[in-house]
Amino acid sequence: MLIEMPRHTEIFGSVKIHELQRVLKLDSGGFENPRAKDISFEEIKDVFRHLAIVIPVKDEKIHLLDGVLRAIPFDCSVIVVSNSGRDAPDTYKMEKDVITKLHEFSQQEILIIHQKDPELGFAFYEAGYDHLLDKDGLVRDGKSEGMIIGMMLAKSLGKDFIGFADADNYIPSSVREYVLDYAAGFCMSESPYSMVRLHWRYKPKVVEDKLYFKKWGRVSETTNKYLNLLLSTCTGFETGVVITGNAGEHALTTKLADIMNYSTGYSVEPYHFVYLFDEFGLKTEDIAYPDAVSAGIEIFQIETLNPHIHEEKGEEHINNMLLGSLRTVYHSKLCNDYVRLKVLEELGDILELEKPKKNIIMPPIGGIDTSKFTKMLESNSETFVRFEQGAIVREIEKEQYLKGEAFQIST
Ligand code: GDD
Repeated sequence: MLIEMPRHTEIFGSVKIHELQRVLKLDSGGFENPRAKDISFEEIKDVFRHLAIVIPVKDEKIHLLDGVLRAIPFDCSVIVVSNSGRDAPDTYKMEKDVITKLHEFSQQEILIIHQKDPELGFAFYEAGYDHLLDKDGLVRDGKSEGMIIGMMLAKSLGKDFIGFADADNYIPSSVREYVLDYAAGFCMSESPYSMVRLHWRYKPKVVEDKLYFKKWGRVSETTNKYLNLLLSTCTGFETGVVITGNAGEHALTTKLADIMNYSTGYSVEPYHFVYLFDEFGLKTEDIAYPDAVSAGIEIFQIETLNPHIHEEKGEEHINNMLLGSLRTVYHSKLCNDYVRLKVLEELGDILELEKPKKNIIMPPIGGIDTSKFTKMLESNSETFVRFEQGAIVREIEKEQYLKGEAFQIST
């Protein structure tokens, strides 16, 4: 892949935010120049083997999930965390059927679990991590909550990198590109604490019967504006470096995933920035993670080649997402009266209370005993299934061996 070098990097304490980098060629020929980095497919494939892609899904069209699953490169493991309906028609069962078929054909490693599985809630409880549980001991609704489950399963597979892909994407090949972009980011990273966030080149909309290739969504544009304002008022130098405040499509190293706090639902992505600014920025007082401070935390923002076409979920959903996002800025340790006032003006009628409530914040998952957590799921959970890579191939080989037939060992 040929990818632009970042023209500028904003340094805020231990956090390094690289400016936007465009994908110049998805498949390149090894020709480097001072403005672009060439990353070979071998290097990218090497990252794939250590990467799990988590797909949070809640009642999406089954054809869309099927396309997304089929687009993810074989060498990555796939983890589907479903919060879909289980009453007739049992959407979760349909999702599991699609995965079973795909595994039969491809032998790719795929894990699936249901967010509301009581044994999952119990496994978190037993692990001492009850921050995402409701009063009945089940995992709460929420995309972020689903992502935390996915990250725990990725850790149980020993993965070094964890990426996310939404299940409602209409263009499977764009999902394939997202995974390539994640891997390219990790190939460029110099710190074990890094994150790759994608900026869609276009988000097409139908306007008066024509396809219009829009660049920005309303929520993203506003969230970026306030994250940048937060940074600018802290440093005294205006910046527009943050362009991926709401990046649902993002990936991070497991080392970074282990030390992050997570905000609930859809506020998870903008809160990544707020948390990193608060904990690793210029005004940090207590250093909780000295290793990360000395290595630095790198954030790559990559502009995709493909446009992003997904399900539109309506005005109320957009307003909730905006409210969740701006709450993270409002309650940042770094937020001053001026920024708070601007946020209140921006929210206007969307805000029903005098000031925005705090989002629920969930602490790092690094302290959870992963193997105990997974063993509990393996023994008790009704919805957890792990389709191993090459499982059927190994069964065939075993049968051939027992029958004394010639067989070929797979690697
Ligand atoms: N497991 C799980 N649990 N998944 C969920 C839940 C839940 O409670 N709620 C939603 N999802 C899944 C959806 O099925 C979809 O695959 C993904 O999470 C994103 O949810 P959408 O409802 O499609 O969000 P969106 O398209 O409006 O927003 C996306 O893009 C934004 C950037 O523009 C999300 O990824 C946002 O987080 C992101 O900020």
